[in-house]
Amino acid sequence: MHPKRIAVIVGSLRKESFNRKMARVLSDLAPESLSLEIVEIGDLPLYNEDFDANPPAEWVRFRESIRKFDGVLFVTPEYNRSVPGVLKNAIDVGSRPYGQSVWAGKPGAVMSVSISAIGGFGANHHLRQSLVFLNVPAMHQPEAYIGNAASLFDEKGNLINDSTRDFVQKYIRAFAAWVETNLSGVHSG
Ligand code: FNR
Repeated sequence: MHPKRIAVIVGSLRKESFNRKMARVLSDLAPESLSLEIVEIGDLPLYNEDFDANPPAEWVRFRESIRKFDGVLFVTPEYNRSVPGVLKNAIDVGSRPYGQSVWAGKPGAVMSVSISAIGGFGANHHLRQSLVFLNVPAMHQPEAYIGNAASLFDEKGNLINDSTRDFVQKYIRAFAAWVETNLSGVHSG
C-alpha cells in the first residue's frame, strides 16, 4: 500500500526555527504508512479577494500542491498568543475561491512548539478554530504543546530529549491512525 501523503505546514520562516526542526523529527519518526513533506508558505503574496479573478502564480501553485496531499499537519509557533500571520495567510489562500477550499475534508493535526513553558497553547487552539470552519477533522488526542523548545535540540537540529522523542513518536503514530479513519472526506470539496 502506498503511504498517505501528508503536507506539513510550518508556521515559522526562521532559518533556525524550532518548529521546522520538529517538522523534520516528525518526518523521521513517522511510520511507513505516512510520507511527510514540508510545503513552503513564505512566498505566498498576502491574500486579497480582488486577486481571486486572476490569482498570483504562487497561490495557484500552492493550491494545486495541497490538493494532492491526503492530509495536513501544522507545526507552528505562537505569536502574540495566536498563529503567525504567515500561517494564517497560507490558510486563507488555500481556502479560496469560495467553495473551492483545498483544506476541506483532509485529516489534520496541530503541534505547537514554543520556547516558553506554555507550549503555544493559544496558537494551537486559535488554529483549531479555523480548522473547524474549514472542515478539517483535526486530531483531538494526543494534544501537542511542546514547551521549552530551546533546550530540546542540539546544534545540528537533533532532538536530544528522550521523553519528548517518545511523545512525538506516539503523536505521529496516533496521527497515522487518525488519517486512516478520517480519509473519507478527502478531495470532496
Ligand atoms: C513570539 N514568541 C512567543 N512565544 C509564546 O510562547 N507565546 C507568544 O505569544 C509569543 N509571541 C511572539 C511574538 C513574536 C512576534 C515573536 C517573534 C515571538 C516566541 C516564540 O515562541 C519563539 O520566537 C519561537 O522560537 C518561534 O518559533 P520558531 O521560529 O523557533 O519555530
